[in-house]
Amino acid sequence: MKSLFIFAFFSAISIAAASTAYPSIPGLDSGDCSLTGDETNLVPPRREVYDDGRLFDITHRFVPEMPVWDSKEGLGHFLWLADSMKNGSRANGSAMKLGVHTGTHVDAPGHFYDNYFDAGFDVDTLDIGLLNGLVLLVDVPRDNNITAEVMKSLYIPKGVRRVLFRTLNTDRKLMFKKEFDTSYVGFMEDGAKWLVENTDIKLVGVDYLSVAAYVHSVQSHLVFLESREIILVEGLKLDGVPAGIYSLNCLPLRLVGSEASPIRCILNR
Ligand SMILES: *[C@@H]1O[C@H](CO)[C@@H](O)[C@H](O)[C@H]1NC(C)=O
Ligand SMILES: *[C@@H]1O[C@H](CO)[C@@H](O)[C@H](O)[C@H]1NC(C)=O
Ligand SMILES: *[C@@H]1O[C@H](CO)[C@@H](O)[C@H](O)[C@H]1NC(C)=O
Repeated sequence: MKSLFIFAFFSAISIAAASTAYPSIPGLDSGDCSLTGDETNLVPPRREVYDDGRLFDITHRFVPEMPVWDSKEGLGHFLWLADSMKNGSRANGSAMKLGVHTGTHVDAPGHFYDNYFDAGFDVDTLDIGLLNGLVLLVDVPRDNNITAEVMKSLYIPKGVRRVLFRTLNTDRKLMFKKEFDTSYVGFMEDGAKWLVENTDIKLVGVDYLSVAAYVHSVQSHLVFLESREIILVEGLKLDGVPAGIYSLNCLPLRLVGSEASPIRCILNR
C-alpha cells in the first residue's frame, strides 16, 4: 500500500515535467555537439546530456566568471599552464588554485562544527553510499525560502533519503552570474529543522552556493550538520532536467583534512 502510494507520487511528478525542453546553457551555442572536424579544425564536444537523454550532468563548469561566496568578482584566474609545450615542455601541464567550496561542491560536518573538524570529519569520511543512489528532484514553490511550511507542502514520503531541491535560483540563473547574490533561496532554520525531524532525507541538494538562506547561513547549517548523518551538496546545475526520480552519482575528491570538496554529480534516468 505504502509503496503503491510512493510510485503514484513519483509518476505524477515525472509526467508533469517530462515535456520541458532542455534550455541552452550560457556559453554554449548548441547542446548537441559531437567530435567533428579534421586535424586543422578540431571541435571538442561539450555536453549537458549524454546517451540520448539518459544521463544529465548536473555539475557546473569551472570558469573564471562563476560566482563565489560573498564576492562581486567571481572566481577569476584559477587555472594556469604551469608547463607548456609552446615553451619547450614535453607535455602541457596545468595547475589550479581553488577554494574547496567553489562551484558544485559538498560540505562535510567540520564546515560549521569546529570540534568535528578537529576530530577529522572531513570529506574523505563522507558516505559514498549516500552520495550514490535513488534521488528525488523536486520543484520548490518559487515565492518563498524553504521554511517548515514549504517543506510540509512538498509531501515528501517517508523512506526518501535523497532530495534535490530546485528553486527560484535556477530560474534566475544565479550560478551563471558572476556577482554573488545574497537574495538566493535556501533553507530557513525552521525548514531545516522540519526536514531533520519529519523526513528520512539524508542527502540535501540545492541549486546555489549554500543550502542555507543567506540570513540563516549559520543556523541552518548547524541544524543539518549536527548529527553528522546529512550530506549537503550545493551549487547543483538543475536547469532543464525534468523533476522526478533518478539514480544519482556524486563523487567528491578525497581531500584529507578538508571540510568541503568540488564534486561531480550526474543523474541517470
Ligand atoms: C599545449 O599548450 C599550448 C599553449 O602553450 C596550447 O596551445 C596547445 O594546444 C596545448 N597542446 C596540447 C596537446 O594540449
Ligand atoms: C612561456 O615563457 C615565457 C617566458 O618565460 C612566458 O612569458 C610565457 O607566459 C610562457 N607561456 C606559456 C604559455 O606558458
Ligand atoms: C529568501 O531569503 C533571502 C534572504 O536570505 C531574501 O533576500 C529573499 O528575498 C528570499 N526569497 C524569497 C523568494 O522569499
